[in-house]
Amino acid sequence: MDRNLALEFIRVTEAAALASALLMGRGDEKAADQAAVDGMRRTLNSIHMAGTVVIGEGERDEAPMLYIGEKVGSGEEPKVDIALDPLEGTTITAIGGSNALSVIAVANEGQFLHAPDTYMDKIAVGPAAAGCIDIRKSASENIRAVAECIGRRPDEVTAVILDRPRHSELIKEVRATGARIKLIRDGDVSAAIATCREDTGIDILLGIGGAPEGVIAAAALRCVGGDMQGVLKFRNDEERERAKRMGVDDFNRAYTITDLAGGDVMFAATGVTSGDFLQGVRFFRGGAHTHSVVMRSKSGTVRYIEATHHFDSKPVY
Ligand code: FBP
Repeated sequence: MDRNLALEFIRVTEAAALASALLMGRGDEKAADQAAVDGMRRTLNSIHMAGTVVIGEGERDEAPMLYIGEKVGSGEEPKVDIALDPLEGTTITAIGGSNALSVIAVANEGQFLHAPDTYMDKIAVGPAAAGCIDIRKSASENIRAVAECIGRRPDEVTAVILDRPRHSELIKEVRATGARIKLIRDGDVSAAIATCREDTGIDILLGIGGAPEGVIAAAALRCVGGDMQGVLKFRNDEERERAKRMGVDDFNRAYTITDLAGGDVMFAATGVTSGDFLQGVRFFRGGAHTHSVVMRSKSGTVRYIEATHHFDSKPVY
């Protein structure tokens, strides 16, 4: 994959972030998501590529745009698969909370798990604890293993977990190890990435979140040397059927980070609201500032891009 493609994708997440940020705190999740989708799609189609959305807004019959299987880009080589979430954190945006992002990940054809829109049990850590996790083991065993790997006591390890009733037993178990916990309302892609940045103080992500978000997070962690594993969690038989149709043959498989996102991957994100690693969109008279990151697994290069947009010279977002 051409490395310059990665920089092109920043425009895509910027456009989605600029559009959805206008709806921050307005209590309308759908409108914020739609604005992000529209912004992302417009810019995606200006990129020279033959892209196929493999993780998107849903299946063709339920999503008018950026549905799974949709062809995006100019249609010329290179052929790439795309995993995207125009607005990761719709509720966060609707209430003006932290850590909403617009994200996109790109890989060569066939390298992303075609994850159905179901749940995934996830475990993710930063580079210092890569190779030390095993989703088949209990949360407490993983906390202790990670503590040993990074040379700390379990009570010096911080886990991030989505604050959901389904996690009450997990939270009890993690507390019993002495580990600290940051409970988050939403946004486990940003939480997974936070494990790779020392300044966040977060060491491990545990618990069940969206499966598509799992693939996107894996792509990001591949670029920064983190580690991740996931097991699909289905809510009903319809979801199992859907997964089968998408090529999942073993419902209990523990996916490694490269099963989730293999080969050379690129990842780009722009902050919609400010959070652990990106600032949100800040408007000024006639324009806005955005803060984005773009990274590639091949080189491991991570670039942060501060952009100033002037709406009078480029009014459509
Ligand atoms: P949305 O952007 O679709 O609102 O997703 C936010 C999110 O918190 C994800 O980060 C997470 O993986 C998923 O929702 C968890 O799902 P649920 O809210 O059903 O527990």
